[in-house]
Amino acid sequence: MTEQINQDGVLHVTDSRTGRSYDLPIRDGAIRALDLRQIKVSGEDFGLLSYDPAFLNTASCKSSITFIDGERGILRYRGYPIEELARRASFLDVAYLLLHGELPGKEESQAWASEIAHHTYVHENVKKFIDGFHHDAHPMGILVSTVAALSTFYPEAKNVSDAARQREQVIRLIAKMPTLAAFAYRHAMGLPYAYPDAELSYAGNFLNMMWKMTEPRYQPDPVLEHALDVLLTLHADHEQNCSTSAMRVVGSSQVDPYSAAAAAAAALYGPLHGGANEQVLRMLSQIGSVENVPAYIERVKRGELRMMGFGHRVYKNFDPRATIIKEVADEVFQVTGRNPMLDVALELERVALADDYFISHKLYPNVDFYSGIIYQAMGFPVTMFPVLFAIGRMPGWLAQWQEGSADPEQKISRPRQIYVGQGLRHLDGPSS
Ligand code: ACO
Repeated sequence: MTEQINQDGVLHVTDSRTGRSYDLPIRDGAIRALDLRQIKVSGEDFGLLSYDPAFLNTASCKSSITFIDGERGILRYRGYPIEELARRASFLDVAYLLLHGELPGKEESQAWASEIAHHTYVHENVKKFIDGFHHDAHPMGILVSTVAALSTFYPEAKNVSDAARQREQVIRLIAKMPTLAAFAYRHAMGLPYAYPDAELSYAGNFLNMMWKMTEPRYQPDPVLEHALDVLLTLHADHEQNCSTSAMRVVGSSQVDPYSAAAAAAAALYGPLHGGANEQVLRMLSQIGSVENVPAYIERVKRGELRMMGFGHRVYKNFDPRATIIKEVADEVFQVTGRNPMLDVALELERVALADDYFISHKLYPNVDFYSGIIYQAMGFPVTMFPVLFAIGRMPGWLAQWQEGSADPEQKISRPRQIYVGQGLRHLDGPSS
């Protein structure tokens, strides 16, 4: 996790059960869990396991994609600080960086953007099964299903060890996510699907497919287009979070990347992960106005509720993405007008950050606390918030999947358990 400090050494351990001692090598600040297996009470003993529910202290892979220092609020993609990338690189260039390890040059950047733009169309049959969803189907449910369904259109995607085939699916997944997302929204609204416009930027085209009505050509507002691009960049990767781990674990079975990405999107849907931005807006509406903030905070402290958009498994100081999002919010509100929920959010943050409960539990606003307020001001319904997150996270999932597929140390993921159930018993045992 940490960098540039010598993290190598030896761990001396003594097993109190046998009195035997062992030397376990420490590399990069970690011991190998498998080295524990030699620690046995007897020859028949399976060997010592490490017990780590929810992987609080287990590194599941080596990765060179994203670096996070949660104590210092640092996030870097391939070594570049998120602040520099968000302000100076486009989302598609960041996607290229995550996947290739380096930012593209000018020509590479244009070729990459053009390749993505030319894969934004989905097979016409996709529209047919989106039509089959109920009018109030959650767009995230539609997205998860349609991403999975793409595997049936590209059966060659099963060749996961073929680099050329892999690259094709990577391009398609990044290109088609905004189309699937916008189609899910248009279906819910009873609007005709708006087709992609290859002349627009990635974010601009998404806005086009969302909002185009009768105008012959949709022109996105440049401030909103840029804000969306920055938001996508902020969500592009976040090392081994729940959805990325799902991508790697499911991908480790060598299933096609559409199926693995659908599993990742499903993981993201949960309210403790990417679904939190939707829950933040529901929470703010429930609080309603600034006067109700103290009473709400008291309920959180009594353990009746969680403050959505607060807290993070890794960041224990501040979430650098939340800081950048506040700047983006100011730009967006200049165009859209101020979201009235912002006052409630600012007051919640102010009261919480001065409160002992939040300070002692190291709870700070995370990326989801302000992103939803911006999305709402831009006109997105709350159900689309996790969908927007999924569009941004797709390059990260794919980069992590590629890295996992190429890692000679990776095998099919298969954790151990500690069995605590019944001992042997028989169907024809003594009746009670
Ligand atoms: N509100 C109130 N208390 C909280 C919150 C919160 N949002 N988050 C954590 N706590 C408290 C817990 O009650 C617990 O208190 P205790 O030790 O007194 O029992 C302590 O802080 C530790 O909480 P855990 O749940 O063990 O922390 P964990 O690291 O497992 O959870 C998580 C991290 C899931 C993000 C959590 O903070 C949470 O539920 N936040 C709200 C949901 C959210 O915003 N999720 C988005 C995360 S960012 C992302 O996915 C993009």
